[in-house]
Amino acid sequence: MPDLHQHRQQFPALAHKTYFNYGGQGPLPQSSLNAILDSYHQGDRQGPFSLAQGQWETGIIQKLRGAIAAELQAQPQNIALTENVTAGCNIALWGIDWQPGDEILLGDCEHPGIVGIVQEIAARFDVKIRICPLFDTLNGGDPTAAIAQHLTPQTRLLVISHLFWNTGQILPLKEICTLCHSQNILVLVDAAQSFGMLPLDLPGLGVDFYAFTGHKWWCGPAGVGGLYISTEAIAQHRPTFIGWRGVTQWETTTEVALAQDARCYEVATSAYPLYVGLMEAIHFHQQWGDTASRYQQICDRSAYCWEKLNALPQVQCLKATPPASGLVSFQVDTAQSHSDIVKALEAQGFCLRTIRFPDCIRACTHYFTTTADIDQLAIALTTLT
Ligand SMILES: Cc1ncc(COP(=O)(O)O)c(C=O)c1O
Repeated sequence: MPDLHQHRQQFPALAHKTYFNYGGQGPLPQSSLNAILDSYHQGDRQGPFSLAQGQWETGIIQKLRGAIAAELQAQPQNIALTENVTAGCNIALWGIDWQPGDEILLGDCEHPGIVGIVQEIAARFDVKIRICPLFDTLNGGDPTAAIAQHLTPQTRLLVISHLFWNTGQILPLKEICTLCHSQNILVLVDAAQSFGMLPLDLPGLGVDFYAFTGHKWWCGPAGVGGLYISTEAIAQHRPTFIGWRGVTQWETTTEVALAQDARCYEVATSAYPLYVGLMEAIHFHQQWGDTASRYQQICDRSAYCWEKLNALPQVQCLKATPPASGLVSFQVDTAQSHSDIVKALEAQGFCLRTIRFPDCIRACTHYFTTTADIDQLAIALTTLT
């Protein structure tokens, strides 16, 4: 295992700043950037549209699908490559044969883009949205019981995050999927904050749709993500956007056959060098322990951050106990707004973000975040507020 300090030196973006925005976007490792550039140069050498380059692209698509599947303990045929989390959620949501009167149960900590899709589905297909209050379970309470109370005979789909982007809470997904499946309800999970952070076994969790991206906790390039769809869910679901990437047979000019697996959701030309970039980013992290040990280190760092920040008299962390994720959300009791504090911090080289609901600041710790980074943040907050 490489020395963590040296490993961290491989991120050019971390050289001159103190970075706490991994849940927004991770920095690219140098090796990933090199792999992207090399791939573009190779395309130029071979001819961007040539037999050799086409063969290379086909291989890269397969390799990335395989690398992602391995991280999810899933099969490649259950993975569709997309651009981001929101694209995956769109694929899942628009592909269900909605009937008037159907209901979607939506958690109350979801990302605005996902809420927007659900709202449009509801308006277009006369589907009802029910909201499940999960925010209140952050420091106690039972999320599965809260979900159970809000399911009705009309519920067709539950839409929730595995790990809440605003509070850092992790949901007991296996229990929730078991509950929903016992009532024939599908589960769509926004995995923006869990993919690349948590050790995952998607068939074991029993989830139907799991939408993720490579540009956050995996520190891959922006623009490459994916969607896991269970074999059972594919059988009762249809692709909405369709293109040549999903076509497996093309015998006449007027008829084609689509893939019977998750490839049917992939549409057309993509920036394949970015696929190489994500594969290299995954490979980079794999050099430092396994997912379980990286996750443990993420939690060690977030516990340190939580303690340091909570020790400041003007700061209150949202979680009453150290978080089980790399997200530490906190409120600062001063005359300044949280936005002003984040702006002032950024002027000093600290990258954090505000969250609107609840009004707070979010600091993300990765496994390579240092205690010195966190100490400096605590000092900066003390002097600024
Ligand atoms: C929970 C959650 N969902 C969705 C998104 C949007 O991600 P993407 O831009 O990959 O679609 C984010 C991004 O911050 C997020 O935190």
